[in-house]
Amino acid sequence: MSVHSIKTVATQPFTDQKPGTSGLRKKVQVFQQPHYLENFVQAMFDCLPQWRGQTLVLGGDGRYYNREALAILLRMAAANGIGRVLVGRHGLLSTPAASHLIRKYGAGGGIILSASHNPGGRDGDFGIKFNLSNGSPAPEILTEAVYQRSRSLVEYRLLDAQVPSLDRVGEARLGDMAVAVIDPVADYAELMESLFDFDAIRAWLERNPMRFDAMHAVTGPYAREILERRLGAPAGTVMNGVPLPDFGGGHPDPNTTHAHALVELLNGGHGYVFGAASDGDGDRNLILGPGFFVSPSDSLAILAANARLVPGYRHGLTGVARSMPTSRAVDAVAAALMIPCYETPTGWKFFGNLLDAGRITLCGEESFGTGSDHVREKDGLWAVLFWLNLLAVRGQGVEAIVREHWQRFGRHFYSRHDYEALPLERAEALMQGLRARVEGLAGQRLGRWTVEQADDFAYLDPIDGSRSQRQGIRVLLEGGARIVYRLSGTGTEGATLRIYLERHELDLARHGQDTQQALAELAALADQFAGIREIIGRQRPDVVV
Ligand code: G1P
Ligand code: ZN
Repeated sequence: MSVHSIKTVATQPFTDQKPGTSGLRKKVQVFQQPHYLENFVQAMFDCLPQWRGQTLVLGGDGRYYNREALAILLRMAAANGIGRVLVGRHGLLSTPAASHLIRKYGAGGGIILSASHNPGGRDGDFGIKFNLSNGSPAPEILTEAVYQRSRSLVEYRLLDAQVPSLDRVGEARLGDMAVAVIDPVADYAELMESLFDFDAIRAWLERNPMRFDAMHAVTGPYAREILERRLGAPAGTVMNGVPLPDFGGGHPDPNTTHAHALVELLNGGHGYVFGAASDGDGDRNLILGPGFFVSPSDSLAILAANARLVPGYRHGLTGVARSMPTSRAVDAVAAALMIPCYETPTGWKFFGNLLDAGRITLCGEESFGTGSDHVREKDGLWAVLFWLNLLAVRGQGVEAIVREHWQRFGRHFYSRHDYEALPLERAEALMQGLRARVEGLAGQRLGRWTVEQADDFAYLDPIDGSRSQRQGIRVLLEGGARIVYRLSGTGTEGATLRIYLERHELDLARHGQDTQQALAELAALADQFAGIREIIGRQRPDVVV
C-alpha cells in the first residue's frame, strides 16, 4: 500500500490528557469528542519512536466504545509505522493477558482499552493505557511526556482504509501493517497451567462446588476456558460470563458491595465453598469463603506465606512488595521468611522495575490487586487459581487458612473509607492542611496513640533512581496502627479522598471482631484529624471497603 493513503489531520491540543494511576480515564462522551482519542494516541506514538517497525499488542475489556476506539487505533498504528499488531478476537484482551502476550511474543509494547472497574456503557467511563516491552504499564516519566506532547499537538496521522474484521482468528493487512487476530485466551491459559497444579485443582473441584463471577466483563471467556474446560468445573461455575458493553448495567468492581450477588450465593447455604470475582479488565480479584471475606492485604500475605506449596513458586520468593496504603500483613510474612519487603506508591507501574530486576516475586495492593513475576500487571484469575491450588493442597477451607495465618502473624484489621465526587479545591485544601500538619507530628499524642512517624510518602526507585513525591500522607501510630490519606488518581468526577485504616491485633480472642468495629476509634480519629466535617462537609464515607 502506498504512503498516499496516510492522512494527516489538523487538530487542536486538549489540555486534560494527563494519565492518572492507570492510564487516561474519562467519560465515554469525552473520548467521543472529535479528535480526542486520536490526539492522545498520536502523542503516545510521538513519544515512543522505538515502536516503529515493531509488534504491538492491542485489545480491551469490551466496554462501550471498545470497537470504535480499536478501529481508530489500528488505522493510526498503520499510519505511524507499526510493523505488526496482535489483536484479541472481538477486540478483547484482559490486562494480564495483554502483558503476557507482549512478553511472550517480544512485542515493543501494547495498548489496552479499559477503565478497569469503572462502570461502562454510553454514560460510563472509557480509558486507554499503554505498556512497554517488558509488559509493564508505562512509567510516570513516559506518561508525563505523553501528557506534555498532547498539550501542543496540532496534527495526527491516520490510514485512510477499512480495518479488517476482528471477529475471526487470522492474519490480515492494513496498509503496510500486519494485523494478526488471535485467540485472547489460549496463551494465557497455557501460562496458568505452567504455574499451578491443575491436576490437584481438578480433583478438588470434583468435590467442592465454587462460583466465579466474571461480572459481564472480560474474564468471562478466560474463566470458562480455564475453570470449566481445562479444570472440569461444571458449566455454570462461571456466572455473568458473557462480556457486555455496559457490564449488564453493573459496576465491574469485585468487592463485597458490587459483587453482592456472589456474596449472597456464598452466604446462602448452597454449599459453595469458594467464591471469586474479577473486574472489568481482569486484573483485580475478590476471594470469598462461605460467610467469609478475605481482605486483599491478607490475601497477599497468605499467598506469600504459602507460595512454596504451588509449583510455580516452589523455590520460594526473592522478595515481596506492596503499595504504601496496603496493610503491613505481608511485611510480617517477609520478616519471617527473611526476604525483603518493598513499599511503593499506589499503582502497578511501580512494581515493574522490582520485578524486572528479580528483587521481588509477589506483589499486591489493598485495592483487590495481586500479582507476581509471571506478568507485569496484577492478575485476577491468577490469584483465584493460586487460592484454588492452596485449598487443594492444604485441604482446609478459606476461613481456616486465614484464621491460622492470623494466629501466627496477628491480625491486621484493615479498611478503606472513600469520600467521592468532592469539589477539587476542597479535597486539595484538605490534603494541603494535612501536609502542613504532619511535619513535627512524630512524638505527639493523637487520641490514645503516640505518633511514631508522619510524612508525605516519597519513593526512591531502587532500580532506576527515579523519585515520586507526594504519594499520600502517612501517620504511623504506636503498636502498629496507621492512618493514610491520599487522593485517587483514577476518578472521573471531582476528587475522591481515600482514608486507609489499619490496626495490628495480636490478641487471638479479639480476632473475631467486626472490622469496622475494630477500627471505629481510629476512623473517628482520622476524620477528626483531617477535618472531614469542617473542610468537606461530609458526615460519613460514600464507600467503605
Ligand atoms: C486505584 C487503586 C490502586 C490501583 C488503581 C488501578 O487507584 O487505589 O491501588 O492501582 O486503582 O487499578 P486510585 O484511584 O486510588 O488512584
Ligand atoms: Zn482493573
